[in-house]
Amino acid sequence: MSNPSLLILPGDGIGPEVMAQVKRIIDWFGANRDLGFDVSEDLVGGAAYDKHGTPLHDDTMAKALEVDAVLLGAVGGPKYDDLDFSVKPERGLLRLRKEMDLFSNLRPAQCFDALADFSSLKKDIVAGLDIMIVRELTSGVYFGEPRGIIEEGNERVGINTQRYTESEIARVARSAFELARRRGNKVCSMEKANVMESGILWRDVVMEIHQAEYADVELSHMYADNGAMQLVRAPKQFDVILTDNLFGDILSDCAAMLTGSLGMLPSASLGAPAANGRPKALYEPVHGSAPDITGQGKANPIACTLSFAMALRYSFDQGDEATRLEQAVEKVLADGVRTADLMGPEDGTPVSTTGMGDAILAALD
Ligand code: NAI
Ligand code: MG
Repeated sequence: MSNPSLLILPGDGIGPEVMAQVKRIIDWFGANRDLGFDVSEDLVGGAAYDKHGTPLHDDTMAKALEVDAVLLGAVGGPKYDDLDFSVKPERGLLRLRKEMDLFSNLRPAQCFDALADFSSLKKDIVAGLDIMIVRELTSGVYFGEPRGIIEEGNERVGINTQRYTESEIARVARSAFELARRRGNKVCSMEKANVMESGILWRDVVMEIHQAEYADVELSHMYADNGAMQLVRAPKQFDVILTDNLFGDILSDCAAMLTGSLGMLPSASLGAPAANGRPKALYEPVHGSAPDITGQGKANPIACTLSFAMALRYSFDQGDEATRLEQAVEKVLADGVRTADLMGPEDGTPVSTTGMGDAILAALD
C-alpha cells in the first residue's frame, strides 16, 4: 500500500518557521515509527501571490483536493494589507475551506498542567481541562442571503441572514457525535432556540440524529449565552460542544484563551469522507502569521505540532502516535522548556523556535 499523502502549505510570516520544526517531526515518525508520508509542499497566501499573482494557484487547489490531508502554517501580513480584497492572502485559505467543503471545524481547548498558571482563570478550574468545540464552518449567518447594506426610508439598514438547512445541521452533528465516541462520549449542543427559529431547527435535528444514530452518546442542550458563562465558570463540565458558525467563532476563541497562549492552539477542519473513508481535512494552528515576531526565531511551533497530531488522529487513524506526540509536548513543558510567549519577563531565558523543535524531538526519542 502506498503511503498516505500530506500537502504542506507553510504560507507567510512565522508559518514557514513553525512548519520547519513540524517537518522534522514528520521525518521522525517516518524514521522511527515506520509511518511514512508522501509529502508535497506548495505556496499559499502572500507567498503564492508573490509568485503567481493569486493567493492560491489552481494547481495547488487541485492538489489539496487529491491528498489525504493538508497541513497549513499561516497566511497574511502587513505587506499584503493594501491588496485588492479578491487576492488577499486570506482568500487562499477561504478558497481551500470552501472548495474542500470543510464544514466541521474542530477547536480543542486543552490545558497542559505545566501551563495552568498561564490561564486567566484559577488553576483548579482549568488544570486537566480537555474539551473540543465543533463549529459549523460553511453556513449560517456569515453566508446566508439576503445580505448587504440597503437604503430604507432615509437611513441605511445592514442585513445578514442566519440560514441552516436540515442536512447542514445533520452532517456537523454527526461529526460531533463521532468525535464524542472517541473521547468522553458527551455532546452539549449550543444554540438560541429561545429566540431563533434556526436554533429551534438546530435543536430538533440534533435530537433526531442523536436518537436515530448515536443514542449511546450523552446529549445535552444549552443556550449559547449560558454556554459562554459556563465555559468561564466551570469549563470541565464539557466534553464536546457542538454549535453553529457564529456562536462557534466566539465560543471557541473564548475557550481557547482559558488555556494560555495562542502559540499552543491547534485546529482541524473536516469535510465529508472520501471513498477511502478519510474525510477531506485541513489542519492548521489557530494563530496567524505574527508579523511582529517573524524572522526572530521566537515563534512557538507547538500549535502547528499539535495540528499535525490532530492529523495523525483524525486523518490517518494513528491515535496512539498522536498521543505519543502530545505526550512529548507535555513532557517538554513539564521540563520547563518555554518559548517567549509562554513566560513572563522574569521567568528566565526562552528557547528559540528551533530549540523547542529540538526539545520535542528529544522527548520523542
Ligand atoms: P496573530 O495570531 O498572527 O498574532 C497575534 C499575537 O500572538 C502576536 O503578538 C503574535 O506575535 C502572537 N503569536 C501568534 N502566534 C504565535 C506563536 N506561534 N508563537 C508566539 N507568539 C505567537 O494575529 P494578528 O497579529 O491579528 O494577525 C497577523 C496576520 O495574520 C494578519 O495578516 C492576519 O490577517 C493573519 N491571520 C491569519 C490567520 C490564519 O492564517 N489562519 C489567522 C489569524 C490571523
Ligand atoms: Mg474568531
